[in-house]
Amino acid sequence: MLSLQSGGLLEDATQQTTLDPADWQALRRQGHRMLDDMLDYLEGLPQKPVWQPAPSSARALFDAPLPVEPTSLADAHAIFRDQVLPYGSGNIHPGFMGWVQGGGTVNGMLAEMLAAGLNANLGGRDHMPIEVERQIVRWTRQIFSFPETAGGIFLTGTSQANFVAVLLARTRKLGATVRAQGVSSERKLVAYASSEVHGCVPRAFEMAGIGTEQLRRIPVNSRGQIDVDALDRQIIRDKADGCTPFLVIGSAGTVNTGAVDDLAALRRIADGHDLHFHVDGALGALGVLSNDLAPLFGGIESADSLAFDFHKWGQVPYDAGFLLVRDSAWQLQTFASDAAYLTRAATGLAGGEWWPCDYGPDLSRGFRALKTWFTLKTYGVKALGDSIGANCALARGLAERIEREPTLRLLAPVALNVVCFGYVGSAGDVPAEINSRIVEQLHAEGRVAPSLTIVNGRPAIRAAIVNHRTQQTDIDALVDGVLKLGSQQDLLQC
Ligand SMILES: Cc1ncc(COP(=O)(O)O)c(C=O)c1O
Repeated sequence: MLSLQSGGLLEDATQQTTLDPADWQALRRQGHRMLDDMLDYLEGLPQKPVWQPAPSSARALFDAPLPVEPTSLADAHAIFRDQVLPYGSGNIHPGFMGWVQGGGTVNGMLAEMLAAGLNANLGGRDHMPIEVERQIVRWTRQIFSFPETAGGIFLTGTSQANFVAVLLARTRKLGATVRAQGVSSERKLVAYASSEVHGCVPRAFEMAGIGTEQLRRIPVNSRGQIDVDALDRQIIRDKADGCTPFLVIGSAGTVNTGAVDDLAALRRIADGHDLHFHVDGALGALGVLSNDLAPLFGGIESADSLAFDFHKWGQVPYDAGFLLVRDSAWQLQTFASDAAYLTRAATGLAGGEWWPCDYGPDLSRGFRALKTWFTLKTYGVKALGDSIGANCALARGLAERIEREPTLRLLAPVALNVVCFGYVGSAGDVPAEINSRIVEQLHAEGRVAPSLTIVNGRPAIRAAIVNHRTQQTDIDALVDGVLKLGSQQDLLQC
């Protein structure tokens, strides 16, 4: 058994046990060096590889024994700078187009440092950090034209926000007693989403104890949008079978191809059948900030709840998921509870207008609101909207280039910022699996990083352009890289 007393660390009860520095001046110098190093790194980002594999020596450093004695901050920072920083996941880099990940910003990074300094817990109580979160709730209402009754809450990401939305919808349909009694299978709760819905939605049904079989996956049309007539027919069939439809989930940007469901039509269907209407806006909802894109999202303002991520198109550093709820009373009904140790007071630190812990599942909550506030305040929503519009213009240009290249094929329509395509060779018949090899090779070369997906059963190269730093030169590098590697693979086949 490890003795933490060894070396006399805790032997003398009178010794100084604070973790604050003994020499604040030295700490200050080291802190400034760390900040400068990080800024240097970010400034030189385009010249660095988007990704490179970490050497085993770096991995070995993180398989070390539990430290009993301290290491200096300078030495720990050197390990981070030399062994972690160069081997990140690449999403800050302009050549990153994989999956759906935001690039973050310098201002967001600085705000995160301030938030860590303050170390506020936003579960509740009366303090200014909660006012900052309330400001974000009000701004978010305004962005999506939600009413004054709307509430909102930061969560890790849209996976969590979708899960919370399922719980809200369940409580709205069955009443608050479901919290004590659970969901009885006799009620046969059923919900609806398109076959393209993100995998976190079925997982939310597992976690909520409702079960994935109760989530009906409705087919999509040729543009990847939920077939609203098929949806209506399925609801009518389910009602006739004695089920209790309670929720319909629309996608404001499907994960695979970026398709936006007809949200206004989903609202009408939800009204017609008394369903909660939730929108998964992880990928696209912040597209409303771009004047050109906003019309695509008509109906989003009528959702009962909307999940989205400030850490994707909002460019806030990870993580900053958000759930906006049309009536905050639904959140209270689902989460508020009494606890002796959380007794409220009329005044003092235990006061405060509302406590976030009553509106969502978390009691310990970090200050995600600060980096979001800094991002919105220091860039303004116009700049964010312009960067979103620019991402979509790059995606449209990429699709046009693909259609001009005889050896490439566009595999899905481009509605927003996601482009799925494949290398098909000059005769149009190379094995589709070649595309997996092309993507692996692109990652190894380190200039651009798209991801892989499957579209209509075919492996596809997927470029999801989310980063504000991505430029036309990065898109050109992607196409040139695919053409070069594709023709090499093609030759290998001969
Ligand atoms: C459409 C969609 N929904 C949900 C999610 C999950 O969001 P998060 O990764 O923030 O949990 C994603 C992630 O990319 C997504 O694209």
